[in-house]
Amino acid sequence: MTGPYVAAIDQGTTSSRCIVFDRDGRPVGADQREHRQIFPKPGWVEHDAAEIWAKVRAVVAGALAAAGLQAGELSGLGITNQRETTVLWDRSTGKPVHNAIVWQDTRTDALCRELGGADGQDRFRAATGLPLASYFSGPKAAWLLEHVPGLRRRAENGEIAFGTVDSWLIWNLTGGPDGGVHVTDVTNASRTLLMDLGTLQWDAGILAAMGIPEAVLPEIRSSCEVYGRAVGPLAGVPVAAALGDQQAAVFGQTCYGAGEAKNTYGTGSFLLLNTGTRPVPSKNGLLTTVGYRLGGEPAVYCLEGSIAVTGALVQWFRDQLGLIRSAGEIEELAASVPDNGGAYVVPAFSGLYAPYWRSDARGVITGLTGYVTRAHLARAVLEATSWQTREVVDAMFQDSGVRISSLKVDGGMTANGLLMQHQADVLGVPVIRPVVAETTSLGAAYAAGLATGVWRDPDELRAHWQRDAEWTPRRAPEEREAEYRVWRKAVERSFGWVE
Ligand code: G3P
Repeated sequence: MTGPYVAAIDQGTTSSRCIVFDRDGRPVGADQREHRQIFPKPGWVEHDAAEIWAKVRAVVAGALAAAGLQAGELSGLGITNQRETTVLWDRSTGKPVHNAIVWQDTRTDALCRELGGADGQDRFRAATGLPLASYFSGPKAAWLLEHVPGLRRRAENGEIAFGTVDSWLIWNLTGGPDGGVHVTDVTNASRTLLMDLGTLQWDAGILAAMGIPEAVLPEIRSSCEVYGRAVGPLAGVPVAAALGDQQAAVFGQTCYGAGEAKNTYGTGSFLLLNTGTRPVPSKNGLLTTVGYRLGGEPAVYCLEGSIAVTGALVQWFRDQLGLIRSAGEIEELAASVPDNGGAYVVPAFSGLYAPYWRSDARGVITGLTGYVTRAHLARAVLEATSWQTREVVDAMFQDSGVRISSLKVDGGMTANGLLMQHQADVLGVPVIRPVVAETTSLGAAYAAGLATGVWRDPDELRAHWQRDAEWTPRRAPEEREAEYRVWRKAVERSFGWVE
């Protein structure tokens, strides 16, 4: 364990964690806590932003204690976060005015259709790189301004602040009694549907169309610079990086060259391909998004395939169906049968994201016969993740002409060897996992360490990356393609369930 040390806060959809890394990029202390998922109605998902802030403070203290370090020994702190989740708070009290609306929440579907008008989902795509969908923050903020009594007037008077979770945490970390720094980074801003991808500034036309007053917005900064210094228990520590969690994973996986890709398997899965310093528009259902921006250097862009439900399907299989006791059990159960018995699960719980963007889709299970057991379903649940990833990889090839020759993976589900083998089989390329599986936190720590001089440049970081495991394809291509056709038929069956 060799200093200097850098801490990363990873504020995710289901939990917050903090990991302290040493100079060699090795984790030396960690802590994690879950927070409540609030489901007020079908399709609605909320978080209590105050609870999240409390959990974040607790895990920072826990990680420092686990590492045996004092706050003063940290060179810097990086933040990475669940993206798109939207918080509005009162600038004078620092209190959220409503629960945060989580990225998975579909309440703004109708609003998005209305906003799209004759142009439909593509209305803001050229400027923002995104389809007009309930996934993104702008419509969520517009919904809150419309539905919380008196909020619009207060927002117009400059009393209210808007932020994604990075902004919320930076405000609180740097905040004295008068509140802290109100900023966001380019990667998080690129998920709001409000930022112009070329200028990296808020787009006045879109703000007007959505009825969002400029007075609520944070300043957009790079992903790697000192935004301010922490107060409270971390007093004086530079808050020196912020990246959306998927972009942080790109950074932690050291995908610094155009053509390098990673897939992170969490609640959902997010495959990002570095396309260099120019945004590549998508014609095949992918998002164009900012990958990272280091200080004043040009921004690096990515194409992203966002899949809403992968790990969350295993949780559903455990918690809602009760067919397994722990998420880890699914591998053994699935391995007890040689195949899926003809069953396919399409987990369109929040509609389908990439490459379809169908808010009218809902989950289906197809191919059921009396032969199908819970073990076959377990297999189908795991396979849903790799088939959805295959669809995204195909779209990426169509958009960019880049055929990936291997896939770097990270996130909780990469512990599941059966799934990783199936992933390699259905993609037909090797799947590679690094030694440090906490790539998201590592990426935020790397960016904070670059901003505070712990590391010199990205090339130095590349040297830390080490392979832990690799799965090579075993399945015959004809067999794989035949099954893929059945999967796609199942996907079609998921469309059209919501008016
Ligand atoms: O875009 C949503 C994504 O950032 C959520 O990631 O890991 O919290 O499920 P995760």
